[in-house]
Amino acid sequence: EKGGYPHFMLKEIFEQPNCIRDCMRGRINVEGTNVVLSAIIDHKEKLLKAKRFIIVACGTSWHAGLIGKHLIESYCRIPVEVEYASEFRYRDPVIDENDVVIAISQSGETADTLAAIDLARRCGAFIYGICNSVGSSIPRSTHTGSYIHVGPEIGVASTKAFTGQVTVLAMLALTLAKNKQTINNNEFLKIVGELMSIPDKMEKAIQTNNQIASIAKVFTYAHNFIYLGRGYSYPVALEGALKLKEISYIHAEGYPAAEMKHGPIALIDEEMPVVVIATHNGMYDKILSNIQEIKARKGRVIAFVSEGDEVISKLADICIELPQTTECLDPLITTIPLQLLAYHIAVCKGKDVDQPRNLAKSVTVE
Ligand code: M6R
Repeated sequence: EKGGYPHFMLKEIFEQPNCIRDCMRGRINVEGTNVVLSAIIDHKEKLLKAKRFIIVACGTSWHAGLIGKHLIESYCRIPVEVEYASEFRYRDPVIDENDVVIAISQSGETADTLAAIDLARRCGAFIYGICNSVGSSIPRSTHTGSYIHVGPEIGVASTKAFTGQVTVLAMLALTLAKNKQTINNNEFLKIVGELMSIPDKMEKAIQTNNQIASIAKVFTYAHNFIYLGRGYSYPVALEGALKLKEISYIHAEGYPAAEMKHGPIALIDEEMPVVVIATHNGMYDKILSNIQEIKARKGRVIAFVSEGDEVISKLADICIELPQTTECLDPLITTIPLQLLAYHIAVCKGKDVDQPRNLAKSVTVE
């Protein structure tokens, strides 16, 4: 049931604060001093010894994997590769019993991800699943794993599953880092504290809904969109662009902002909307100069910034303020307005938001 919402997608976007509370329940203690993903503790030996992690996934789950790479490399100091399951399975990859494969899938039924798991298992790798759908094929074909516990996702465009996946990946990185002693205690406590405040900050991000709905009216008839981010925000840019493509059928590309000067900046003119994730974190000054480069070519900048930002608001055509959090958890906040932007543009265009053309919720064929 849509619970009073016009579409499942909007319901699922709005549900995210509670989904993330459910996802963290029983895994972080009330004092905020410990994070325990039981699958990690149960297989501690294997995971702590791993020489390399390989994340396999498709679509939105692959975007969550890119954030997972950043988290695991930063805090656990283990090299991580992120692979499209469809490429990995046909590439005769170098993989052995020292590798841990993390398979991420909302449905737990994606054919390419299942085949990638199968291949990695035959090569002797240890397989860890991150899934939503309980009892589906992927959790049954892995050695262990963690469910994201965000409830059934009906809309074809994945929303709450993405934030659930990122939350589990953050808890996974924290649990491993603590056990590996690759994170100092102050940093650990700071991130856990921030993680606990994410649901409330998500509520605030959702309050941008009306503002985003009016922006959608301005850009309904745009033919192209560019999405830019750096660091942890780069996968968010990819995810924002994918959401727009799949439900509004507008061509959209996500790029790491600094790559613009290597080609795509040639696309910028007064017709080109450029969505920039420019929250206050380590990459702020860099992204600020990327915005200046776009404005110099007359691009129309829609910037998502941290509350109280007074610099970018003077530069960007449109500026939306979001609650600030620690850099590695920023995707959990910045993704929400991009989901809303895609949703409202698709609604303005009269598209079938929950069942976009040519797409299925579970891709069970390759
Ligand atoms: O169920 P999965 O997470 O394995 O699905 C992977 C992709 O098919 C899925 O994320 C797809 O990209 C979504 N429609 C994106 O919104």
